[in-house]
Amino acid sequence: SQDRAIRPKSLADYIGQASVREQMTIFIEAAKRRNEALDHTLIFGPPGLGKTTLANILAYEMGGQIKTTSGPVLEKAGDLAAMLTNLEAGDVLFVDEIHRLSPVVEEVLYPAMEDYQLDIMIGEGPAARSIKLDLPPFTLVGATTRAGLLTSPLRDRFGIVQRLEFYSVEHLSTIVQRSANILGVSLDEAGAVEIAKRSRGTPRIANRLLRRVRDFAEVKGSGVINQTIADQALSMLDVDHQGFDQMDRRLLLAMIEKFSGGPVGVDSLAAAISEERDTIEDVLEPYLIQQGFIMRTPRGRVVTERAYLHFGLSVPES
Ligand code: ADE
Repeated sequence: SQDRAIRPKSLADYIGQASVREQMTIFIEAAKRRNEALDHTLIFGPPGLGKTTLANILAYEMGGQIKTTSGPVLEKAGDLAAMLTNLEAGDVLFVDEIHRLSPVVEEVLYPAMEDYQLDIMIGEGPAARSIKLDLPPFTLVGATTRAGLLTSPLRDRFGIVQRLEFYSVEHLSTIVQRSANILGVSLDEAGAVEIAKRSRGTPRIANRLLRRVRDFAEVKGSGVINQTIADQALSMLDVDHQGFDQMDRRLLLAMIEKFSGGPVGVDSLAAAISEERDTIEDVLEPYLIQQGFIMRTPRGRVVTERAYLHFGLSVPES
């Protein structure tokens, strides 16, 4: 798909996340010089910041293949064993949503990570046998939204832990300009900055908005994306000047109108806006916290002055 076309292949193409890039460049170089597999790497951070992209880059840089699966897909020990026995030396096994592995599957993963050993029971009853297999040196790359969701024995087995951060407007602008080039879209600097400002610090959102703004530019304009066209398209898409979408606004307004600005527990909030608790914690809240619209306190979430001002409301006396 076109998604594949705009996804960076190498660390050199990967924009932003300077500390991740600097560290991984060194760890990859060192592993290659020693002719070893890269150490197991845990990548965490909110959705859309490039965890899968980074996993693919790690495999590419190490000269291995990537085999991709996810926590919920690995139902039985044998499902993981099948993936592990398919690996070759230097390959990356990418497990997305690794916090959702079942306990029995996690047990199989521990010796695989520590000693490249597969230790598994086959069969049932009197015929049941335990088999041990040597695995090739491989790299487990795990991805999750929050590192705290992992059990500590699993977390402790990753030699490298990288947290992805929200992107600056400058980096997002560079990312959409790169994507526009690859897609053959005409986008000027101010248009790129406008899309970047309204993308919640998230490349996946920036690239999605770029496609929608392009549609708008082709139908309503001349096809060229400048600031005016970008602003008109994004307003039509209900993305406000802070980059908040309807869900962000619904969350903030519920906190203000139904809970007097908080403190409110995440479960009460989830019920009030008919959303999953996980969606609030993993998708909505991180950006609102990073932008200073919500704070977490021991008694629950509270909105800040900024939230009132965003909606043109007066800040209540405290
Ligand atoms: N697309 C998504 N994330 C990216 C990044 N960090 N650099 C370049 N392109 C991207």
